[in-house]
Amino acid sequence: MAKATVKDLDVKGKRVFIRVDFNVPVANGVVSDDNRIVSALPTINYVLKNGGRVVLASHRGRPKGEGFEENYSMKPVFLRLKAEYGDKIHYSEKVVGEDVVKMSNELKEGELLLIENLRFEKGEKKSDINFAKELRKLSDLYVNDAFGTCHRKDASVYVLPTLYEKPVAGFLVEKEIHYFENILANPEKPYVAILGGAKVSDKIPVIENLLNKVDAVLIGGAMAYTFLKAKGVEIGKSILEMEMVELAGKLMEKAQQKGIDFLLPVDHVITDKIEDGKVEITLDEKIPEGFMGVDIGPETIVKFKEVLKGAKTVVWNGPMGIFEIDRFSAGTIAIAHAIAECGCVSVIGGGDSASAVKKAGVFDKISHVSTGGGASLEYLAGKKLPGIEVLAER
Ligand code: 3PG
Repeated sequence: MAKATVKDLDVKGKRVFIRVDFNVPVANGVVSDDNRIVSALPTINYVLKNGGRVVLASHRGRPKGEGFEENYSMKPVFLRLKAEYGDKIHYSEKVVGEDVVKMSNELKEGELLLIENLRFEKGEKKSDINFAKELRKLSDLYVNDAFGTCHRKDASVYVLPTLYEKPVAGFLVEKEIHYFENILANPEKPYVAILGGAKVSDKIPVIENLLNKVDAVLIGGAMAYTFLKAKGVEIGKSILEMEMVELAGKLMEKAQQKGIDFLLPVDHVITDKIEDGKVEITLDEKIPEGFMGVDIGPETIVKFKEVLKGAKTVVWNGPMGIFEIDRFSAGTIAIAHAIAECGCVSVIGGGDSASAVKKAGVFDKISHVSTGGGASLEYLAGKKLPGIEVLAER
């Protein structure tokens, strides 16, 4: 059964609480990546267009929960939204309380109110019902468009919705569910998973779940070295999760038993010092002593591209190397291009991979770039997301 969406509500004249995930990076007081904000605009604009009054709420970062902290304020987000909505948007320094309730009641049709960081109140992280009841006073209807936070049991995503007759999903959450369900339940084959990033431990449940679905797994990024170690390959001073080596070995065995291609890098870009060291390319999978792997090598790129060429469904999470540094970005950029060109259904999760497709200039050629980091990993691991579970069925 599908979740009810904002289209199932009559928003005319109503105050609509939209839980968004505006946990966005800020540099010098300015939002430096507004993807999460832009992705929520269709829901916000739908409510406004249909005569609703919008109350926007999000967390940003991980403040202590003891009141205002400048570093985590929603003010930069407010400025970004002002560029969109001008004088129609208002900002409340407080999260809950009489003044905020008054501001929400005074909203006119077509106007918006952004409240301060939900996590400035300790009740948010504590799933506190009393805090949820305070938030409840700000609106008549509830919409969750905060996909990136749906794996949390924070009060505003897990408790607050239970206080409404019909809590619904926004268009972003609807779209995320659509793509993730598609690649988990109905993927067209061949189906390829590309996993990278620093930590194997973060990806274990994802690999375990995907091994029941995919035809090939391509492993890059720092986590590849733990898998290579499990194969007995020399990895120099590359990042290693020693306690994961055994499990990595078992996962490769499982893949083999299932007849799944499990590809590790066959060569690497290596350096002796990340900031200003020598940069070399290995001739094979071995990394000499004193060096660390920082990107997949050219042979690996060719091999990975070959697999991607025939794919009909691709899921990608985690970069192939330290792509933020240009001289270690070739592998990640090449994979982003290969996915964009394969003509497949492609879903990309995790903030780093999303930045990588932006850096590669292929963001618009990907079927779906998820706004969720942790949330997309939990979805891919086959877990139910509390913030979605709690929403009404259509
Ligand atoms: C994210 O960026 O993944 C979400 O906004 C959730 O943030 P959190 O990990 O601090 O709960």
